[in-house]
Amino acid sequence: MGVSTWVGVASVALVWGYDNGAKNSRRPPLGWSSWVALGPQWQTSHAEAPVFDFCDETSAKLSVDAFHSVGLYDAGYRHFHLDDCWADKERNESGFLQAERDHFPNGMKPIVDYAHSKGLTFGLYTCAGNYTCVGGRPGSRGHFQEDAAVFAEWGVDVVKMDWCHTEGMDPKETYTEFSKAGAPYAWNDMDMLESGNYRQAAHANGRTGNMTATEYQTEFSMWAILASPLIVTTPLLNCSKTDQIAGNFTPGTCAASLTPLQRRILLNTEVIAINQDDTPAGRLLQDGDWSIYGRNLSDGSVAVAFYNPSEEIAQVSLDLSLLGWQTGTVAAARDLWARADFPASKDRFPASGTLQVEPHATLLCRIKKQEVQEAFV
Ligand SMILES: *[C@@H]1O[C@H](CO)[C@@H](O)[C@H](O)[C@H]1NC(C)=O
Ligand SMILES: *[C@@H]1O[C@H](CO)[C@@H](O)[C@H](O)[C@H]1NC(C)=O
Ligand SMILES: *[C@@H]1O[C@H](CO)[C@@H](O)[C@H](O)[C@H]1NC(C)=O
Ligand SMILES: *[C@@H]1O[C@H](CO)[C@@H](O)[C@H](O)[C@H]1NC(C)=O
Ligand SMILES: *[C@@H]1O[C@H](CO)[C@@H](O)[C@H](O)[C@H]1NC(C)=O
Repeated sequence: MGVSTWVGVASVALVWGYDNGAKNSRRPPLGWSSWVALGPQWQTSHAEAPVFDFCDETSAKLSVDAFHSVGLYDAGYRHFHLDDCWADKERNESGFLQAERDHFPNGMKPIVDYAHSKGLTFGLYTCAGNYTCVGGRPGSRGHFQEDAAVFAEWGVDVVKMDWCHTEGMDPKETYTEFSKAGAPYAWNDMDMLESGNYRQAAHANGRTGNMTATEYQTEFSMWAILASPLIVTTPLLNCSKTDQIAGNFTPGTCAASLTPLQRRILLNTEVIAINQDDTPAGRLLQDGDWSIYGRNLSDGSVAVAFYNPSEEIAQVSLDLSLLGWQTGTVAAARDLWARADFPASKDRFPASGTLQVEPHATLLCRIKKQEVQEAFV
């Protein structure tokens, strides 16, 4: 994968505008999206629908600051994305997109500059169709050249092009066309990660999201091994709905925070390293009641995910020949979620017997060949 994978899963593709020289810019984008993130009181039990499509100059800048203070930057995240929330209902008189004028009185460029000044690349949302997915905002249909030009004028590094209101359009042709208006490469994109969002899950749209902590961990594992962009849409600002609707985003009303579950998943640098490895995406190696995915890594080790989609506990093991390794190979494995090493073993993993994987869970390991030791010969 890595280059020219056009049809995004969940009908979204991320298209890089250009290589702006940012470190790792040829790796899957590792970043944060505003989509559910500026919603209200997501950590409480109230049942009101979140406000998804809100952003303004203050909340965008506070989110850039929060990106740093919650630890995303230190864990390697570098990409800041404003989703469907920013565009004015009307194109300007010359037909160009413009930022919503009351929310962005100074336009979009100061936000882009601010993110850049804090070491982040900047991404902006548009939609291939007539309107954006939320609706009420103009889509890029018929305006690809103007839109690519205005994004470049503002210094935007990455454009996410969504797929709504696209009657009669072909995704492959369209994404290729937009890509020609700027972009040398793109990734298969499994869309935003919902890690720990529960009630504020992006597509819950006001209904209670019902993914479990185990499933959030499985989600992150799969995005990592399949080299999907890791774009988390976890709220970083803990604001009340009242303040949000009033547009009252101040450091006082919106503390930067992550839940312990989100910290454990999103800041696991060993799992992030699998995603960011400069190698082709992983693939399914063995299927059945539970499955094995593998991805060759640049240091010669292999990321292996044991995924149990069933409702029963799975007893898993791996024959090392499945990795293309010859008989007699001795390997050591590390559990990347438990951050614990297993004893080295020969020809199979684990050394004997099986490991238990809970329903819907994923055991994610990094397995490395070892020099053959006397004891194993
Ligand atoms: C519309 O936006 C474009 C791109 O930012 C700009 O060059 C142009 O001057 C704007 N036109 C008007 C009438 O404001
Ligand atoms: C969508 O845009 C196309 C091309 O500009 C136009 O022909 C079509 O009528 C529009 N459809 C709707 C539903 O607005
Ligand atoms: C979670 O929600 C989905 C979609 O509404 C539903 O199909 C599924 O049964 C739910 N799972 C649980 C464990 O409640
Ligand atoms: C958000 O703020 C509320 C009220 O101050 C607090 O009870 C809650 O723990 C905070 N949530 C997080 C995730 O920090
Ligand atoms: C890893 O590389 C080896 C050698 O090129 C190849 O045989 C194997 O299929 C690759 N494994 C995966 C999971 O792509």
